[in-house]
Amino acid sequence: MMPRTRIAPNGPTFSHMVYGTWRMLDDAPSAQDINRRLHLCLELGITTIDGAEIYGGYAQEAALGVALALTPGLRENLELVTKSGIYIPHPTAPERRVAHYDVTAKRLNDCVDSALERLGTDRLDLFLVHRPDWLTSIDDTAAGLNALVKSGKIRSAGVSNYSPTQFAALNSRMDQPLVTNQVEFSLLHMDPIFDGTFDQLQTERVQPMAWSPMAGGSLFDLRTAAAQRLAEQAALIAPKYGDCSLEQLAYAWIMAHPSNPIPVIGTNRLDRIQSASLSTQIALEREDWFALWVAAKGHGIP
Ligand SMILES: NC(=O)c1ccc[n+]([C@@H]2O[C@H](COP(=O)([O-])OP(=O)(O)OC[C@H]3O[C@@H](n4cnc5c(N)ncnc54)[C@H](OP(=O)(O)O)[C@@H]3O)[C@@H](O)[C@H]2O)c1
Repeated sequence: MMPRTRIAPNGPTFSHMVYGTWRMLDDAPSAQDINRRLHLCLELGITTIDGAEIYGGYAQEAALGVALALTPGLRENLELVTKSGIYIPHPTAPERRVAHYDVTAKRLNDCVDSALERLGTDRLDLFLVHRPDWLTSIDDTAAGLNALVKSGKIRSAGVSNYSPTQFAALNSRMDQPLVTNQVEFSLLHMDPIFDGTFDQLQTERVQPMAWSPMAGGSLFDLRTAAAQRLAEQAALIAPKYGDCSLEQLAYAWIMAHPSNPIPVIGTNRLDRIQSASLSTQIALEREDWFALWVAAKGHGIP
């Protein structure tokens, strides 16, 4: 069964793999299709669902809300995460001329109110600032997050795509410390292990959430040399791990990092969600972790 993890000392308890909904509407699913995906996640112990205001052309939260409502009580068995702060020109907002960020207190509060309504719930388990906004002061953003936690509309607050200094700056104004930084991390995007992001989160005992864990699918694009090397390396070590797939090794590689990243699964396919969930059972040996690192980079360690 999927392990569970308290993501920070003052944070919520989540499943160790989270289901992400960025691409959820790409294959034009019915509400029943989405509901089926949620039930499969629940059966596999994946109880935490990640979304965002902007996903699906600003339509993901509402679609998820409809799918949740098909099964009375389903929401109570899940942890809901959403994010706000990115605004791109879109037919739903004809007045918007330029893509921009806005993470002012007022905007965050309005976003949470809308998200609660769309999702059909009275609280979010985790609310994330989607991206740092260069034009909003940390005092303003923190005031918004602090008020949202105090009101009970959100159980906890975190950020996404923040640098370590941006995280520390905002955290210095928080009444309840931030509980995660959701960042891109995969075999093909290793920045957080080099740029201080994961060092800082270990210092704070805060688990990262890892987005695009399969590098958006490019991990399997055999037209690239990196994907070819990874496929070859995976074939060499897979027998040791029950003939698992590259996909499962790639999730296990992420979770092996000592900052304990929580992968956010992005596939829409039920069979892939199921096989992804088995990755928590793979304990990669140290040399195999490094062998995958070398295969991904195409050169040896420094
Ligand atoms: N905070 C942020 O700024 C941010 C940004 C991006 C994403 N996210 C979150 O992270 C989640 C995951 O991101 P992601 O969707 O980019 O995840 P991902 O797992 O890296 O990529 C998913 C894509 O890879 C494909 N794929 C997965 N396994 C495959 C395989 N074995 N062979 C071939 N293709 C495969 C999927 O296609 P199929 O559907 O056909 O399997 C899908 O198109 C999102 O849903 C969202 O919740 C957050």
